Amino acid sequence: MRFPLVLPIVLAGAFAVTGFPQSPGSKVEYGKYLAEEVAKCADCHTPKAEDGSLDRSKLMKGKVMEYQPIGEIKDWHKTSPDITPLGRLWGRWGGEAAMVKYLTTGKTPRGTFAGPPMPTYKMSQKDAEAIVEYLKTLK
Ligand code: HEC
Repeated sequence: MRFPLVLPIVLAGAFAVTGFPQSPGSKVEYGKYLAEEVAKCADCHTPKAEDGSLDRSKLMKGKVMEYQPIGEIKDWHKTSPDITPLGRLWGRWGGEAAMVKYLTTGKTPRGTFAGPPMPTYKMSQKDAEAIVEYLKTLK
């Protein structure tokens, strides 16, 4: 009976291939994973449907945030911008290089930082490029 021993080894192998930390898969898939599951860009930049889930027809199209701080927070932004390549922001920033730089430094092309609740990300070049690659697939 060799089967019971082989099965766990096969399963462990399959996990090693599919688990993102070990192996990113395609760049776009990895970027999607970062943007939706890790950095949570989608939560803040996507309108919600009536049932509270993300309205995936408007993924990363920006919205009026559905929450506000209880106390006053300086420079609080009630809206998040459209961060798809079709949005005004990409046009203004001049394209993907600026977006990658922003995600690795936290600085916009004007040298400023975004206001709250937008986090200041200082991602690795690899992660920033993957997110931008994913954003480029959005309409
Ligand atoms: C907690 C909510 C939140 C999360 C998470 C979030 N954002 Fe934002 N983002 C905002 C808000 C609100 C603004 C508007 C702030 C401003 O314009 O200063 C913003 C602004 C931006 C801007 C424009 C910055 C500027 O100064 O013009 C970009 C680009 C951006 N976000 C990209 C992203 C990306 C990419 C991710 C994920 C890696 C992300 N955001 C995650 C809420 C969020």
